[in-house]
Amino acid sequence: MFVASTSCAVLGAAGFPLIRQRRTPGGLVTVDLVAAPKRMEFASGRPCDALAYNNSIPGPVLDVREGDRVVVRFRSELAEDTTVHWHGMHLPFDADGSPFHPVPPGGRYEYAFTVPRGSAGTYWYHPHPHHRTGYQVAHGLHGALVVRADDDPLAHLPEQLLVLWDNRVDDAGSVHIPEQRSIPGRIDFENGREGPMHFVNGVLDPTIRVRAGEVQRWRIVNASAARYYRLVLEGHTLLHVGSDGGLFEVPVEVPEVLLAPSERVEVLVRANAAPGTRARLVSLPYDRYIPQTRPANWTEPCPLATLAYTDAPPVEPPAIPARLRPVPVLREADATATRVMALSQGMINGRRMDPARVDVTAPLGATEIWQVENLVGMDHPFHLHGFQFQVLDRNGVPEPFRCWKDTVNVPKHEVARFIVRYDNHPGKWMFHCHILDHEDHGMMGVLEVR
Ligand code: C2O
Ligand code: CU
Ligand code: CU
Repeated sequence: MFVASTSCAVLGAAGFPLIRQRRTPGGLVTVDLVAAPKRMEFASGRPCDALAYNNSIPGPVLDVREGDRVVVRFRSELAEDTTVHWHGMHLPFDADGSPFHPVPPGGRYEYAFTVPRGSAGTYWYHPHPHHRTGYQVAHGLHGALVVRADDDPLAHLPEQLLVLWDNRVDDAGSVHIPEQRSIPGRIDFENGREGPMHFVNGVLDPTIRVRAGEVQRWRIVNASAARYYRLVLEGHTLLHVGSDGGLFEVPVEVPEVLLAPSERVEVLVRANAAPGTRARLVSLPYDRYIPQTRPANWTEPCPLATLAYTDAPPVEPPAIPARLRPVPVLREADATATRVMALSQGMINGRRMDPARVDVTAPLGATEIWQVENLVGMDHPFHLHGFQFQVLDRNGVPEPFRCWKDTVNVPKHEVARFIVRYDNHPGKWMFHCHILDHEDHGMMGVLEVR
């Protein structure tokens, strides 16, 4: 027998819907997900052809718990192949939604996986068909996935989920994707496609309400094709408490946080300004570009959302735990191989993606180091499917603390090293640049674990 899922959290600054999910008392979560065309306005006053999951952009939030068995019954009403990729999740190969398992127009697919213990965090889902990920995400297909732990040390804090996604429309109000060989098309290929519309949960400049004294937990997802967000909340510092794969061991106080495409962060916002005041959440300029194609307005800060204090008198701030959770160590001494990945423009180790080729073969259970070297003058966010990793060092500088990641930004001409253990799930796993234009043009490879 199914019972309605009970979700304790308040999700979404704009109050977007939780997915209609059912959970049995034993932790079986079943979800129906449909990708389909949708006529809508991208805030331009002119309707255009978009694509949506369950009629919503972003797609509804899938809210599950560690240990749950998740079954997503997916159906596609798109006119081309698609998949649903569960970005960052540790799951069986056939549930990964990679280009190896395309869903044709009118097709169905059942994604089934068990959410591992220790994986509580903020993830997301998006299409991943060969060559068409950027197109489908640009038209609206993206959504968040939240995994909760029974012993969540921050469960007492009110939550906001912020899904960041930029876009660009043409004069007719349609999603603007230039012809590939045109000059704007070539600039998009170089930089990755960016747009001047900065959506948060599908709306522009939402207001997030807060009462003075409160502490809010913000889960932030970068679902943009190429935009980097250097986030600041005016007048506030942030307590950085988590990354792609969930919470750190201890909170870290920061003035700002950089979010490359596909990365997630969790931060605590301490509402220590006066009742009735406002603060903007802004993305500051970040120079990830080569000079030749750097957008003219790249130095302009982008306002994203507004934090509005109610007039109510301050509440007593809640306690923030000094320790969050242990993050197990992956030891360098256990690594049996180092994989060197040289990133150039559109290629990894001088090659473009070939689904018929395996680029790296590794034994199940092995611990390995990946050394990702960026040879060119622009940043590339490097993502590995299926396995969370730990960054060891960047340009030889040891990472200050341990955390789980599935994407690491490798700045211009820099090197990052991470360590990963393929503890389960044999299969073929993609690794790629998460600037979608780069990925779609083949800046991707295949790791086979067996
Ligand atoms: Cu968001 Cu291949 O990944
Ligand atoms: Cu992924
Ligand atoms: Cu790239």
